[in-house]
Amino acid sequence: MSKIIVEGSNRLSGEINVQGAKNSVLPVLAASILCRTPCVIHNCPDILDVDTALRILKHLGCKCQKQGTTVVCDASSITNCDIPENLMREMRSSVVFLGAILSRFKRASISSPGGCELGPRPIDLHLSSLKALGAEIEEDHGYLQCNAENGLYGKEIHLSFPSVGATENIILAAVCAKGKTVIHNAAREPEISDLADFLNRAGGKICGCGSDTIEIEGVSFLNGIEHSIIPDRIAASTYLCACATANGKITLNGVIPAHMISVLSVLRDAGCDLDIHNNKLTISVNGRLNRVPTVRTLVHPGFPTDAGPCVIAMLSRAKGTSVFVENIFENRFRYIDELNRLGTKIKTEGRVAVIDGTDHLEGASCSCTDLRGGAALVVAALSSEGVTEINNISHILRGYDNITETLCGVGAKIKLVV
Ligand code: UD1
Repeated sequence: MSKIIVEGSNRLSGEINVQGAKNSVLPVLAASILCRTPCVIHNCPDILDVDTALRILKHLGCKCQKQGTTVVCDASSITNCDIPENLMREMRSSVVFLGAILSRFKRASISSPGGCELGPRPIDLHLSSLKALGAEIEEDHGYLQCNAENGLYGKEIHLSFPSVGATENIILAAVCAKGKTVIHNAAREPEISDLADFLNRAGGKICGCGSDTIEIEGVSFLNGIEHSIIPDRIAASTYLCACATANGKITLNGVIPAHMISVLSVLRDAGCDLDIHNNKLTISVNGRLNRVPTVRTLVHPGFPTDAGPCVIAMLSRAKGTSVFVENIFENRFRYIDELNRLGTKIKTEGRVAVIDGTDHLEGASCSCTDLRGGAALVVAALSSEGVTEINNISHILRGYDNITETLCGVGAKIKLVV
């Protein structure tokens, strides 16, 4: 079983080129099946979730090639309209392929994604929206059978919650539907805008992304294009928290600071010195951080739930007590028991975590419960005395491109043992 070994208490120093965004590349790869000529997608991170997405595309009949951080996807000879259960299980966000498959084939069959490590993860908003566009959806032996024999038709859709995945699925289903779709209370995350940029340059007519009302005028076809995935704001936040916790000075290259305003504000409150020049962000930290006012996760542009675990790990080393409230997912604190093995003093009740800062963490053996919780263990381990062994790291590899090499490059003593 592979694991990550960290020898803590080394200051970080140097530069990191931030990977492409996991949460952008997945819907963009799904969108590529709507294009009648090949797509060339640059800045794809080398992560397990991209490998899973490519396996889904190959299963559907796409020709995919990956070279470095570029993926070429040719969906002209696509034949299948189902996603096998094993691939759905590996990555619950595979559900974002549903809208695209339905648009291309007028039918789709996927296994129900079920619950996950962050608590129940319903897809009711995805399904009710696709039904509003004209799909009939039945559950059959754990599979969702979707049919839109008469095609998909634009509609006004009011989301009761601005779900990221549901917004993406609606865009993918509506971009080639007949007529106009309007999404009210749409998600405003930057990854939605990246998907719309991709589709618009391929011939789509989508406007309003970044606001809570998105309008999509259906077009009859899309052409393949070249596209570069936006930087991963969550990976960037992870490296900032690593530096804040371990101390030192690092520069992140290729970030979009405007996507990270709420995280940067918490880092400033904690006493980190941040210097921003266009797409370069330098953090320098000496000594212990300060406690911060209560952090609450919210939809974008609020504080992102995915940045929570690493910020909690960072605050566990601060002077004083901080409070963190998780508003997006029901059960996101499972990793905290593992973090506490290193000596952090964090108590949780329901959606609230109370973090008593400590000046001493001690390396220990621990295990990842989920992707961002796993990254939080790495962040805490970097400032712990002695050696930390992190197990069950496939979670981390789902979303971080070469995390051990990246951190070694800035002076951390960390290695991947396979
Ligand atoms: C995406 C991100 C994930 C991030 C999350 C919130 C990807 C691949 N994943 O996940 O990293 O943490 O946004 O920013 O982009 N919900 C429902 N019914 C639905 C859909 C969602 O009740 O049909 C609820 C979920 O249970 C959750 C909340 O809405 O409590 C947010 O979910 P959503 O915005 O859909 O997140 P994902 O798209 O799954």
